[in-house]
Amino acid sequence: MSALVASLLERIHSRRARTGVVGLGYVGLPLAVELAKSGFHATGIDLDGRKIDALMRGESYIPDVPGADVKRLREAGTLDGTTDFAVVRELDTINICVPTPLRKTKDPDMSYIVSAVEAIAKYLHPGMLIVLESTTYPGTTDEVVQPLLEATGLKAGEDFFLAFSPERVDPGNPTFQTHNVPKVVGGLTPACAQLAGALYGTAIETIVPVSSTRVAEMVKLLENTFRAVNIGLVNELALMCDRMNIDVWEVVDAAKTKPFGFMAFYPGPGLGGHCIPIDPFYLSWKAKQSGFDPRFIELAGHINGGMPHYVVDKVMDALNTRRKAINGSRVLVAGVAYKRDIDDMRESPALDIMHLLEEKGATVEYVDPYVPEVHGREWPGRRDIRATEITRGTFAQYDCVVIVTDHRTFDYAAMVAEADLIVDTRNAIKTPHPNVFRLGAPRPELAGRAATALA
Ligand SMILES: NC(=O)c1ccc[n+]([C@@H]2O[C@H](COP(=O)([O-])OP(=O)(O)OC[C@H]3O[C@@H](n4cnc5c(N)ncnc54)[C@H](O)[C@@H]3O)[C@@H](O)[C@H]2O)c1
Repeated sequence: MSALVASLLERIHSRRARTGVVGLGYVGLPLAVELAKSGFHATGIDLDGRKIDALMRGESYIPDVPGADVKRLREAGTLDGTTDFAVVRELDTINICVPTPLRKTKDPDMSYIVSAVEAIAKYLHPGMLIVLESTTYPGTTDEVVQPLLEATGLKAGEDFFLAFSPERVDPGNPTFQTHNVPKVVGGLTPACAQLAGALYGTAIETIVPVSSTRVAEMVKLLENTFRAVNIGLVNELALMCDRMNIDVWEVVDAAKTKPFGFMAFYPGPGLGGHCIPIDPFYLSWKAKQSGFDPRFIELAGHINGGMPHYVVDKVMDALNTRRKAINGSRVLVAGVAYKRDIDDMRESPALDIMHLLEEKGATVEYVDPYVPEVHGREWPGRRDIRATEITRGTFAQYDCVVIVTDHRTFDYAAMVAEADLIVDTRNAIKTPHPNVFRLGAPRPELAGRAATALA
């Protein structure tokens, strides 16, 4: 073992290593807090001065990170934030958690990783450990990050250490958070893997070492492609069930009683969030570079991408039963976050659904306790829109209410009692009701017939 490895290992085990996290968003802030909680001094670096200001005031801006934790760690002097990369001079370890979006052409946008790594490279010094956590295509760590860092003259695996470890955070999940989700770690060399494993081992319960950075990169893409493809499958099943007057929700719930060989996925209005709609395209882009044409990813993307159109068709069908057209109707979208009980709207299908409805002439409003405002730049409708306040009788004021996100705080009983029509894309209203059109389920007048006959 080299002296540099031994020294960093000792600093990690004794918690004297100065840790840093670049990119303090949904992934980076929880990680910085976990590192500080496990006894390290942690410094967050972000270009967004508002996030750093909030952190320095001892406030959390990520719902899964309790404000009390940030406050306590700030008061203890173990958590700091800055917009200035010069602090890298003082750091022993850095985890990079910057965004990896897609370009409009569905090609990976590496610009955030490149700019963060270039900024780190200016202050890279011998003995440092750099770990990339951003979701990305296999080969990023050794093809993109390593050359940028080695341009300093220092050599990866000898002078500094480089690893990839995918983030698996599930925003809004109360059971699994950073500390108890097993962490896959792949190093450029065995020493790189050992150091990264040691760092995570101080804050995370289970470490899963793999043989290379490329395996670790591919693990994350398999996990998210698995979700995208299975959601595509169950969405296609929902479209079939719609034609065949079968309740897809009942089918999935019965199928999941099989104790082996089946895993339940549910249909919905389309994919959302920073990961599932995006990550599989990182894989297909890279596979195409190797002359391989991945078909499952494209097919699932096609089916999932069509779901907002199907929801709008469902609204049209529902209005048709009242002899109304979408054009001129007032439609209320319930829930614009991409999933239940969170405030994140990125890639949310609700934004497409609102736009498609407006294009067809509907007057669209929305309610969402987590999202007070949607800015024009955040959705294709291009106008600022504020959440409608829910008071008694609100739901009665619309021709149709579309449940796009099934937040637990919505009063579904009031919705059913007040609304003339509801299109439910999440099976939030489980029992058949004459006013409720559920995605992938028989029309209200046909629903519940067999059940009634059996009873
Ligand atoms: N959000 C999730 O649920 C989730 C889950 C698993 C993996 N991931 C992956 O983790 C990565 C980060 O995702 P996120 O959701 O935390 O993103 P985010 O947008 O919430 O946070 C990213 C942060 O990086 C900052 N940033 C951008 N460029 C920077 C730079 N050059 N230097 C310093 N800071 C910079 C931004 O200001 C922002 O605060 C992505 O690759 C994503 O795919 C996200």
